[in-house]
Amino acid sequence: MKKIPPILFPTGDDGASAGRVLVVGASGPTGGAVVRALSGRGAIVRGIARSDVGEQQARKAGADEVVRADLRHPDDLRTAMAGVESAFYFSPRAVPDEAALGRAFIKAAEESGVSRIVVISMINSHAPIPNHQESLQVEEALARTSLSSVILQPAMFMQTLPHLDRISELGWVGRPYPIDVPLAWVDFNDVAEIAATSLLTSSMDNGTFELCSGGMLTIAEIGGLMSEALGSTIESREITLEEWAAVRGEDFSSPYRRECYAEMFDYFSKYGFKGGNSLVANMLLGRSPVTWPEYLVRTKQAR
Ligand SMILES: NC(=O)c1ccc[n+]([C@@H]2O[C@H](COP(=O)([O-])OP(=O)(O)OC[C@H]3O[C@@H](n4cnc5c(N)ncnc54)[C@H](OP(=O)(O)O)[C@@H]3O)[C@@H](O)[C@H]2O)c1
Repeated sequence: MKKIPPILFPTGDDGASAGRVLVVGASGPTGGAVVRALSGRGAIVRGIARSDVGEQQARKAGADEVVRADLRHPDDLRTAMAGVESAFYFSPRAVPDEAALGRAFIKAAEESGVSRIVVISMINSHAPIPNHQESLQVEEALARTSLSSVILQPAMFMQTLPHLDRISELGWVGRPYPIDVPLAWVDFNDVAEIAATSLLTSSMDNGTFELCSGGMLTIAEIGGLMSEALGSTIESREITLEEWAAVRGEDFSSPYRRECYAEMFDYFSKYGFKGGNSLVANMLLGRSPVTWPEYLVRTKQAR
């Protein structure tokens, strides 16, 4: 991996005085990755969980403290935010109250004396897709708060395609859109590393950052890379929404959720998912962001 010098931020400080950091979704993959990225960097990490299992997962990721809180309960949020310096937030995906939950989180942070909020939105949050539009409303709410805020706009997480072991079992990789549309991607561990920096220093305050691995790759190209990594042919397929849901374990718990995914995949069918400029991620990481071949090598080594 090509090393480049890290950007020198004029207002940067180190993590030693970072205080207590709150992490939403610490029981899940995205928040868990942020907890792991924070560990050993001088802050007390407080994860949010909703169940015993969730608490175990948050602690396994490295949370020093776990608070039981539901984003829909403002009292829970105020308890979770007591004594917190910086808070990491993302909206639960494809729920109809995504924007309202974001606004409630910002309000609770303002009332609780939190200094900084770091939010994961997404690249192309302006796209006419329901959950993207909800994320855009959260971005807009951050523009109106007096708290320091950081908006991270990642491309599609590489981790949203099935693990290489599962791909090997299936013999194919697919999505509910044509295999030749180009898409922007990023490894969510790179996003987590950048999130940790933005939580522990003032260097990224009040900025919005698109986070992409370099270039755009189609499902056909990724299928080719998976074939090379596995040493066997992986077919690239356009599949139906139902086939995708079955592989993903998505139960479409509401009509809204189904509509979100259907509209998102329809958008990708027409336009792909534009992005892939890695300049910002390069600067923030001090190295090139992980590419698809590198991600597959790492996944294979970890099997
Ligand atoms: N997927 C992508 O490619 C992509 C790309 C760009 C941006 N994003 C954005 O990145 C964010 C994370 O994506 P994800 O959904 O894949 O993350 P995830 O890690 O699967 O999110 C689930 C986590 O959220 C927690 N959670 C859900 N509802 C909650 C509630 N009401 N109160 C408290 N905690 C709650 C869950 O807790 P429990 O364990 O208790 O259920 C779990 O820890 C989303 O905002 C998404 O829009 C995703």
